[in-house]
Amino acid sequence: MPEILVDNLTHTFGKGEPGALTVLDKINLTFESGSFNSIIGTSGCGKSTLLKMMAGLFTPSDGQMTLDGEVIEGTDRRRGMVFQQDAVFPWMTVAKNISYGPRLRGASKAEQSEIEAKWTEMVGLRGFEDRWPRELSGGMRKRVDIGRVYANDPDVLLMDEPFGALDAQTKERMQSDLLTTWQKSKKTVVFVTHDIEEAIFLSDKIIVLSSRPGRVHHIEEVSLPRPRNDEMRLTEEFLAIKRRLWGMLDH
Ligand SMILES: Nc1ncnc2c1ncn2[C@@H]1O[C@H](COP(=O)(O)OP(=O)(O)OP(=O)(O)O)[C@@H](O)[C@H]1O
Ligand SMILES: [Mg+2]
Repeated sequence: MPEILVDNLTHTFGKGEPGALTVLDKINLTFESGSFNSIIGTSGCGKSTLLKMMAGLFTPSDGQMTLDGEVIEGTDRRRGMVFQQDAVFPWMTVAKNISYGPRLRGASKAEQSEIEAKWTEMVGLRGFEDRWPRELSGGMRKRVDIGRVYANDPDVLLMDEPFGALDAQTKERMQSDLLTTWQKSKKTVVFVTHDIEEAIFLSDKIIVLSSRPGRVHHIEEVSLPRPRNDEMRLTEEFLAIKRRLWGMLDH
């Protein structure tokens, strides 16, 4: 699985124009191969911008990112992204949304059915395969989105507040399911969240960005054992990290 390096990356929207806005400033980061990383920071500090650049949706104004030594340029199936806003296709059923990527690459009908069955189950949408997105709740649409990205089997999973809209119970179940899936596949994950507890529960490493322009304010290594379970949320170690990170975010 690949390693991602962010090398002295700075991004200014509208660089050189009046009203230019520097969003990220001299970011240096390493996302180790197969690791689970979270990014936290206040609203507007550049988290989505950073993730979109990893997806290759646009180029940083200075510095670069590399994946296994190759500069990231443009989108690639190896880097799958779950966007902050859901991005389901309204004209496709749940199942067809999920198998979209494989279908595009010419998967057979049998392969598509297998993928649809596997991932609708994994994201908890069994029984809804033939529904249209307009018939789903916001949280369910989000799960279609996640299933569609998983079904593409990327090496790098970029997730922008994927569980932000879910209720607490669904969210905890999705977190555990994500860890189970990740533990099997060992993808390199970069996960953006506002939720400190979520970041601790999931991650090997948590990057705290300062307010805009986002700079790397702190890196927290989380050494809680794996596999993680819900009881760990109440341990001293967990709570100590939570307290520390809480104090770092501007409220
Ligand atoms: N395409 C764009 N053009 C100009 N400015 C932009 C663009 N996209 C984002 N911005 C600005 O960049 C800043 C960072 O935006 P970004 O979406 O990365 O923040 P964020 O950390 O993800 O915030 P949130 O936690 O609210 O999702 C914001 O001030 C936003 O207005
Ligand atoms: Mg964002």
